[in-house]
Amino acid sequence: MKTQEQSRRNFLKAAGQLTVLGGVISLGSCIGGCSSDTTSPTGSTGVKVNLILANEPDLANTGGYIRRVFSGNNNNLPVIVVHTADKKFQTMTSLCGHDGGSIQAPSGGNKSICNKHFGEYSIAEGNFAQNVGGQVGPTLKTFLTEYDEVAGTITITF
Ligand code: FES
Repeated sequence: MKTQEQSRRNFLKAAGQLTVLGGVISLGSCIGGCSSDTTSPTGSTGVKVNLILANEPDLANTGGYIRRVFSGNNNNLPVIVVHTADKKFQTMTSLCGHDGGSIQAPSGGNKSICNKHFGEYSIAEGNFAQNVGGQVGPTLKTFLTEYDEVAGTITITF
């Protein structure tokens, strides 16, 4: 005959197994859901790309930008690098998080616009990559962008 303590232990053991099983099922559904979402940005790879500012005249002045593919990074999709403020640069993907459209080069008004449903994304220092008009969409993926004034380089970490 089981004691009350043994019954309690068996109950807790069974509850623990169910909890673990539930976690596995939840994780499985998350993985399945994430892998089918084609608009999800990829995780960071840690790959660093250096730009020499002297070789990038389009980035020389505040407000300047480039839209470029850095082969092997960002799923080979362009990124938009912007000279957002004095000695500050920021980089965002061109992949729209709403439905996979392509964010175009900045078109005035401190924003870039998606070619699919015309979501508008800021290129301003204070709210860079945030959705600021048009179709509502999530903030775009950004990449760490560091400026070394002495070396004259911009380093983007993908
Ligand atoms: S895909 Fe960019 S706004 Fe819809």
